[in-house]
Amino acid sequence: MSEKKVEWESNFAFMMAMIGSAVGLGNIWRFPNVLYSNGGGSFMIPYIISLFLLGISFVLVEYAVGFRFKKSIGRILFSISKKLEPIAWFIVLIVFLITTYYICVVGWDLIYVLLSFTKAWGANPDAFFTHSVLQSTNSITGIFQIVPIVLASVAAIWFMIWFIVKRDLNEGIGKVSKILLPVLCLIVVIIVIFSLTLPGASSGYMQIFTPDWNALTDLNVWLAAFGQIVFSLSLGMAIAMTYASYLPEKSKLVDSAITVAFSNSAFEVFNSIGIFSILGFMVVSTGIPFNELVTEGSGLAFVVFPQVFNTMGTMGSIIGPLFFICILFAGITSTIALLEVATYAISEKFDIKRKKAVTMICIAGFIISIIFATSLGSTILGAFDAFLNNFALLLAIFIECIIFGWIYDFDKLIETLNKDSRIKVGKTWKVVIKFILPICIAVLWIQGAYSTITSSDSLRLVIMVILSAVLIILPIIFAKLPAKNKDYYNEELNE
Ligand code: ALA
Repeated sequence: MSEKKVEWESNFAFMMAMIGSAVGLGNIWRFPNVLYSNGGGSFMIPYIISLFLLGISFVLVEYAVGFRFKKSIGRILFSISKKLEPIAWFIVLIVFLITTYYICVVGWDLIYVLLSFTKAWGANPDAFFTHSVLQSTNSITGIFQIVPIVLASVAAIWFMIWFIVKRDLNEGIGKVSKILLPVLCLIVVIIVIFSLTLPGASSGYMQIFTPDWNALTDLNVWLAAFGQIVFSLSLGMAIAMTYASYLPEKSKLVDSAITVAFSNSAFEVFNSIGIFSILGFMVVSTGIPFNELVTEGSGLAFVVFPQVFNTMGTMGSIIGPLFFICILFAGITSTIALLEVATYAISEKFDIKRKKAVTMICIAGFIISIIFATSLGSTILGAFDAFLNNFALLLAIFIECIIFGWIYDFDKLIETLNKDSRIKVGKTWKVVIKFILPICIAVLWIQGAYSTITSSDSLRLVIMVILSAVLIILPIIFAKLPAKNKDYYNEELNE
């Protein structure tokens, strides 16, 4: 028998862990750019519709499944049909691979936390990030050149994550989420209040409140809104399923899911007000046009913001560290959630104690992360990110909709959700999961696949082919390996 079944010690611990898993790099650096490039204020319309119609609907599926079965994803899919077990390992593997590069970005951020106290990036943060931190090259031989500072930082983050997740659920993930998330929110409030006092702040935040109504007729804007919800709410990653399986009886599932989704969106919208106010200040101070400052991802955090902190003078040495600590905390709470999916799946199937399972996964993950700590690392990271998010994860969500909407008895999920929740779900939800969501995902998938393939160079294409092979072969092997936990195959215990 495996050593479980543990439960969250309180609803608060569960909520902090769930919100912590959702609030991550996607909220802090992805959302501002998506919002700005897709119509500003008017983007909130497709965003809110996607949040309700698709985001919350899918989170509810994962909640209902995890809570009903109280098992890991491998055992859940096995018990629906033996043939489905490889799908479970396909999802676990996607999430594990996402963790290996996500952690690397958190590692870059750790370096910037340390640099920010003295603004050690100097007068040219762009060159500093590319040449001094990443030591980036486009040459294929770069894969053999380890970047020691990045490797050390990534190792430190893997160690931290191992240290948290190996502990008992409440002592590790629960406790850390209960501390880091409130501190993170407090820091964001301080940054936003400060940013609103800066000269030029209003010209900045007005950029996101000024709507471009024409954008609403553009299909890509709707797809961008949905894509943001997928990433930000960690849809399809089985995190909600895993966390909900640790909930005690009588939990109010629908109420919790709505609270988590709203908190995540409130966080990203509120945080954007601060980001845009700071960018408004930068425009006024330097004359650099707005559209040159709003860049995606690492460009915004590690290039534009260091420039802003340089311009701020002494205050930059206070706001800078707070900003990078904020990303660090958001990254840690998301990473521990990502790791828990594989931890639960492996420890349950192979009857391995939590600590040992976490140690094995962290060692394997660290070995893969070494690739991202080379001079070619950021290029490979980009390829992993594009493939896993635009291709593999969307496919996983699509398959989950088909399995739980069509193969499994969907009415059982409705019954599970409505049993103790104050807010009930009904037929509309069923239509969304069976029809609307799979269609939206399919459109997003085709668009993502097309743009990923057409915009990829040969190196990226090779990486994608390797990843595809890994994602086909390894899940089949994992499903075929005999379970050490004999209950794994016990149908009576499986629902
Ligand atoms: N939901 C997490 C994020 O936004 C993965 O970064």
